[in-house]
Amino acid sequence: MHFHKFLDSLPQPDAKVEPKTDLEGLIRGLIDEGAGWIDFARFMSTALYEPKWGYYSSQNRQIGGKPSLGSDFVTAPELTPAFGRALGNSVAQALIQTQTDEIWEFGPGTGALAFQLLDYLGDKVKKYTLVDVSGELRARQSATLEVYKDKVSWVSELPPHMQGVLIGNEVLDAIPVNILKRISGTWFEQGVSYSNLSDSASAPSDSFTWAFKETSLRPPTEDGLVGDYLTEIHPQAQAFISTLVKKFSKGAFFFIDYGFPEREYYHPQRHMGTIMCHFRHTADDNPLVLVGHKDITAHVNFTAVALAAQEAGAEVLGYTSQAHFLINSGLLEGLDRADREQRAAALKLINEHEMGELFKVLVLGVGVSFDPLGCQRGDRTHTL
Ligand SMILES: C[S@@+](CC[C@H](N)C(=O)[O-])C[C@H]1O[C@@H](n2cnc3c(N)ncnc32)[C@H](O)[C@@H]1O
Repeated sequence: MHFHKFLDSLPQPDAKVEPKTDLEGLIRGLIDEGAGWIDFARFMSTALYEPKWGYYSSQNRQIGGKPSLGSDFVTAPELTPAFGRALGNSVAQALIQTQTDEIWEFGPGTGALAFQLLDYLGDKVKKYTLVDVSGELRARQSATLEVYKDKVSWVSELPPHMQGVLIGNEVLDAIPVNILKRISGTWFEQGVSYSNLSDSASAPSDSFTWAFKETSLRPPTEDGLVGDYLTEIHPQAQAFISTLVKKFSKGAFFFIDYGFPEREYYHPQRHMGTIMCHFRHTADDNPLVLVGHKDITAHVNFTAVALAAQEAGAEVLGYTSQAHFLINSGLLEGLDRADREQRAAALKLINEHEMGELFKVLVLGVGVSFDPLGCQRGDRTHTL
C-alpha cells in the first residue's frame, strides 16, 4: 500500500507538541492505533459525535440559531416558523397517504421544527419521536416541546419496525464521508495523520495533517473528471438510508439538505470537494483545525441517497429545489400579512442565491406511492 504524507514537505520540526484538547488527544490515539492514519469519516465522526467532547455533544452548543445566540450556522426552522408551516402541508398529505399519525424526526436540533409541525398539524399527529446520535440536546428539545410532552418521545436505538412520516432537515450533510483524491492519475484515500513535532511557526492545534493511502475506492462516476481531483463518497449516508427503508413497513421520508445529483457533484469544476466547516457564521474548508469547536459538513449526493433507498425497497416520489418544494407547499400563502422581518426570513428560504436553489428536498415512499404536494411543479427526479 502506497503511503504518502504532506508531512514530508513540512519545515524541519524543533519541538514536541502536546495535544491541545482532550478531543485532539483522543484522535491522536486513534491515529496511533491506525498505524499513523485514520480515514476522514472516522475523524469527522469523532470530531462531531465523540460523546464527551464532540462538536454536537457540547451542552452549550447553539444549533442553527441566529448569530446573536452564539451559533455557528442558521437552519431553516430557526430562521422562521413559516418553514414548518409549509413543510407541514406536505407532511399532512403524507400522513393521509401513509394512513399514519406518527412523525419521526432525525437530528432535531433545538426542537424548533418539531414545535412548528406539532403546532401546525394538531390532532393529525399523535406521536412524534426524536432521534439523534447525540443525546445532549434532549434537555433543550424537551424544554421547547414542553406543551407537547404527551406526544413527544426520544429514542437512542431504532425499533425493528417503524411506520409514519420521517423528516431529516440538514442531517445527511452531517453524516461522515470519506475523501478520495486523484493525484497524477492514481486514486488515494485522503485521511488524517498528525505531526507530534512542530516548527515554531505552527500552533499545536495545527498539528493534524492530511495523509494519503492508495485505494481501490472510486467515486460513483469518473466521467469527464480530468487531472488531479478531490471529492467525497458517502457510504455511511447510503447505509443510513438503507437501514431506515428496511425498518419501515409504510412511510414517507422528507430529506432536506444542500447537495446535488451525481453528475453535478462529480463535475470537473468541483475538483476541490465540498467539505465545509461552520464556525460563528463563517464557512471554511479546513476541518483539521478548531477540532470539536466547529461544524463539519459535506454536500449530499442525492443520486447516491436515492439509489440506496431504491435498492432497499423504497420509491423516489419526488426531488426538487427547496424553493419549489416550499412554494408548492404553500409558503407564500398569507405571507403578505406577515411583518417585514418574517417576510424577509421566509424569502431567504426560497431566494435562488440563498437557500432556495442549493437546498433540495428528496421525498421517498416505502409501501406507498403518491405525487408529493411539494414536488408538483418543478420536479427534478429525472436529474438524479
Ligand atoms: C446541522 S444539525 C441539524 C439540526 C436541525 N435539524 C435544524 O434544522 O436546525 C444536524 C443534526 O443531525 C444529527 N445527526 C447526524 N447524523 C445522525 C444520524 N445518523 N441519526 C440521527 N441524527 C443524526 C446531528 O447530531 C445534529 O444534531
